[in-house]
Amino acid sequence: MSARKIALVTGGMGGLGTAICKALAQSNFIVIANCLPDFPPRNDWLERTRAEGFDFHVGEADVCDYDACVVMVKQIEREIGPIDVLVNNAGITRDGIFHKMDRSQWDAVLATNLDSVFNVTHQVLEGMAQRGWGRVINISSVNGVKGQFGQANYSAAKAGILGFTKAVAAEVAKKGVTVNAIAPGYIGTDMVMAIKPEVRDAITDTIPVGRLGRPEEIGGLCAYLASDLAAYITGATININGGLHMY
Ligand code: CAA
Ligand code: NAP
Repeated sequence: MSARKIALVTGGMGGLGTAICKALAQSNFIVIANCLPDFPPRNDWLERTRAEGFDFHVGEADVCDYDACVVMVKQIEREIGPIDVLVNNAGITRDGIFHKMDRSQWDAVLATNLDSVFNVTHQVLEGMAQRGWGRVINISSVNGVKGQFGQANYSAAKAGILGFTKAVAAEVAKKGVTVNAIAPGYIGTDMVMAIKPEVRDAITDTIPVGRLGRPEEIGGLCAYLASDLAAYITGATININGGLHMY
């Protein structure tokens, strides 16, 4: 077994996921990037990050599927070792004004953004508690904190993450395991670039810092929360939104 700690990042090949994987690797974690099974860009992503000097592992599973998460985590434990840091990052949007939102938009977002947090955390938390050290970092959103026009599904799921974070943090606080949420504002990834340009520009105009966030800024915060120095932060929601929502 390795002396280096092991981190699993769900949705690890996406915009924020990639930056989080890199930041954790730069902090000396062994990093496993989760992706969907048969994810077409998987090999390109591995090749590109390898060329940049990273040596990531891959854990395939649809995080909406509990049984697939069981299999993925068991395989990681067998082949690499027990997971010390879990970043629940996988997520999607299916935006629409509520009265036009259909049940499939609701179900997809709740399953991917909230059920997934149960599905993966359930596989690793007990082991972290038994070993006396662990970090769970849940990627919520400014829109889970404040609510957003056109995102009843997403805001509900991301707010649900905040409740989950506080409840579970309380349960494992004495075991050396911290559970925190990061609530990013609008960060320049495919997810934000999918917003209609005129709507996105209008939102960007309201950000006091005057720009979208950078994925590296979220990666850096994850690396800090994963560190020993952050042992006294638990049950927290850390806002990182360029001043878009201050409270
Ligand atoms: N507040 C109040 N009214 C608003 C509004 C807002 N924030 N946004 C739009 N409206 C109004 C429009 O002005 C328009 O009014 P009129 O009919 O009087 O002209 C009406 O609502 C309909 O707006 P759209 O034409 O935009 O409606 P649409 O059906 O074409 O699109 C939408 C609806 C898809 C929700 C679109 O408004 C949209 O994309 N909004 C942005 C949602 C958003 O912020 N998504 C974030 C995605 S990224 C992410 O989620 C990451 C993260 O965590 C930050
Ligand atoms: P992204 O680039 O679209 O990345 C999301 C990743 O999650 C993708 O790699 C995606 O794979 C993966 N994924 C989706 N469904 C999955 C599933 N069922 N199982 C496994 N992986 C799955 O978006 P991002 O901006 O990096 O978002 C990452 C997280 O940050 C999300 O939870 C998002 O809600 C949150 N967030 C983003 C912002 C922002 O402004 N960008 C702000 C606040 C919070 P596919 O590409 O195959 O779908």
